Amino acid sequence: MIPMLDIKRELNDIGDEIKKAVDSSINGTMFILGPNVKKFEEEAAKYLGCKFAVGVASGTDALHLALKAIGIKEGDEVITTPFTFIATAEAIRYCGATPVFVDVDPDTFNIDVNLIETKITNKTKAILPVHLFGNPANMDEIIVFAKKHNLKVVEDCAQSFGATYNGKQTGSIGDAGAFSFFPSKNLGCYGDGGLVTTNDENIYNTLIALRNHGSYKRYYHEIIGFNSRLDDIQAAILSVKLKYIDRFNKERRNVANLYRKYIGEIVKYQKETENGLNVYHQYTIVTEKRNDIMKALSEGGIASAIYYPVPLHLQKAFEDLGYKKGDLPVAEYLAENVISLPINPYLEDEEILVIANTLKTAF
Ligand SMILES: Cc1ncc(COP(=O)(O)O)c(C=O)c1O
Repeated sequence: MIPMLDIKRELNDIGDEIKKAVDSSINGTMFILGPNVKKFEEEAAKYLGCKFAVGVASGTDALHLALKAIGIKEGDEVITTPFTFIATAEAIRYCGATPVFVDVDPDTFNIDVNLIETKITNKTKAILPVHLFGNPANMDEIIVFAKKHNLKVVEDCAQSFGATYNGKQTGSIGDAGAFSFFPSKNLGCYGDGGLVTTNDENIYNTLIALRNHGSYKRYYHEIIGFNSRLDDIQAAILSVKLKYIDRFNKERRNVANLYRKYIGEIVKYQKETENGLNVYHQYTIVTEKRNDIMKALSEGGIASAIYYPVPLHLQKAFEDLGYKKGDLPVAEYLAENVISLPINPYLEDEEILVIANTLKTAF
């Protein structure tokens, strides 16, 4: 079986180094907000070209805390994409605000910047673009609208660690960036973890309190916060993996190039954003023969997946928002016709060829 993701191969490659880092964190006995968290935050901020990075418990919390830190509250509206994982819009809901879904671009799969302005109202407070599957959203246009309408921007970078736009790291362009270290991510830990980046000292200071019960000084609480801290063991693992992220992302881009070469133009695939460097968290194609192709792949011992089968505006959880089928046709079309193929830094050329040939034969 060729799986979507192969952490066993990662362990064969850098497992010894990771186990040493875990051992060292355990021997240090500072499990909560210990030295490895601070070390990783500094390394990540440097890598991402941001002044500040705050480790939190998950990517979902990174989004939630980032939105709270920029001041999103009940009654506000936040513009976002319907073609993403639910956490993007859940985080808006956690703040008591309303997600306003804008359809996506059929080529890049990211929020269609030509449609954003039509959805801005006097309640709109922020734009929350997602760099879907590692492909940067059109940040130039998003920042222009944000400035023009006095909106904040939080980037959902859960899938885009190391991706760049105009040479700048995703997460360093908006007011804040939210990263996930879920194990399958380009930079994944061995449990749950997340990070918020920002260049704004006020946002940073608020985040420091929000992640730790609203406290700067032990047992003195300035605001109602949360228990949402990246733990020391995960931070130690992330420091090891951060050293390899450029190699990992280069390998992913290499796999994507080989897919394009071997599959050719018979199926549509996610296009890279102009000025963006995609780090291919997923390699996703679009085909109206999805069922047949997934069946053939499965029979050939090849995993594949659908990210995502239901766009957020049609999810039961968002029923109360009143959207109906047909409202956001591009997202709906993609949800019905996308397939993600196996991609990871350890996928071998021969495996990519087998996958491509199986797909072409099925087609
Ligand atoms: C686009 C997107 N946003 C947010 C999240 C939430 O991250 P986490 O699972 O770490 O909470 C994920 C991943 O799961 C994601 O893919």
